Amino acid sequence: MPDPAPDRSVVDGLRADFRARLAAAASDRDLDSLHSEFVGRKAGSVTGLLKQLGTLPPEARREFGALVNALRTEIETALEERRAAVAASRPPAGAVDVTLPGREIPIGRVHPLMRVRQQVEDIFTRMGYEILEGAEVEDDFHNFEALNMPPDHPARDMQDTLYLSAPIAGGIWGAHRAGGASGVPEAQVRAATLLRTHTSAMQIRYMKTFPPPVRIIVPGRVYRRDNLDLSHTPMFQQFEGLVVGERITLADLKGTLLALARELFGEAVTIRLRPSFFPYTEPSAEVDVSCQSCGGRGCGTCKHTGWLEILGSGMVHPAVFEAVGYDPDRVTGFAFGLGMERVAMLKYGVDDIRLFYENDLRFLEQFPL
Ligand code: DAH
Repeated sequence: MPDPAPDRSVVDGLRADFRARLAAAASDRDLDSLHSEFVGRKAGSVTGLLKQLGTLPPEARREFGALVNALRTEIETALEERRAAVAASRPPAGAVDVTLPGREIPIGRVHPLMRVRQQVEDIFTRMGYEILEGAEVEDDFHNFEALNMPPDHPARDMQDTLYLSAPIAGGIWGAHRAGGASGVPEAQVRAATLLRTHTSAMQIRYMKTFPPPVRIIVPGRVYRRDNLDLSHTPMFQQFEGLVVGERITLADLKGTLLALARELFGEAVTIRLRPSFFPYTEPSAEVDVSCQSCGGRGCGTCKHTGWLEILGSGMVHPAVFEAVGYDPDRVTGFAFGLGMERVAMLKYGVDDIRLFYENDLRFLEQFPL
């Protein structure tokens, strides 16, 4: 028994189907598959209808044949037109696609320690300080002795020192050679050359070279024989501050450090000076800033004290002035030293100092440009 005679609705259905598919076709490949699905010799659905024509009675065959043939022509024409349109919109070989988004160029950023350094230098430049650096290889005289730490002074133990085997040119050996070269064991002379343990050595070099008044900041690397841990690296960085002149007082020190703390950590910050000891200052103070994590109420960051230590400071000891040839009866001064990493850790909430020196981009990219 022949299939029931296909009618107009079948043809209309196929046409609608084809139009929808054509609208979505974007490439030659899409057009190829449309071609075989609808008018392909083997499996085309329109072709299938044409094949059925022979089974129809002559009357229906004529009428229906005309409809199906018209659809086939329509489909072939539409496919041809679309193919031409696709070809026309194709860019010539080797053309540049100007609609592609640009390639992102990775932009470097300033290292967090360098940001702190720039900020501190900026603060003190505005206050009229001179910024200078010093050598990282020092001699015993500048690093210890002239800072009121004679050989065997117990304060030297606070700074485990890295010594060099070769003396620096022009090094001053101080008390190590006081008794004349003859009496000094060679090993002791060699031990007098070292990697500076603090930037305080530059206080001596500056004052020996220039007369008062003095207003300097010395940023730079310092070295100690410490093992790596959360808060220690054998190389770290400090700022030394030194102000010398007539009638410089502890109040000047406090005002200066308060201004520094407010610039670094915000206007709400307060500071406190705690009595301490450094051989090169008298009196000496350790300076704390109020903890910004808790606003001074006490939290894990500040070990529930409300305060965080940021630096050491004091009024320059008369023995230091004598060592550099200043008259302690005429001038007074204050000095302070703070760790760059320490400031960066507090400012940016970093809890492991080693991160600053690992150059891990996942860490460094977290800082603003
Ligand atoms: N030199 C000290 C240190 O490295 C810091 C310091 C303390 C520097 C007191 C000073 C000062 O100038 O007056 O720990």
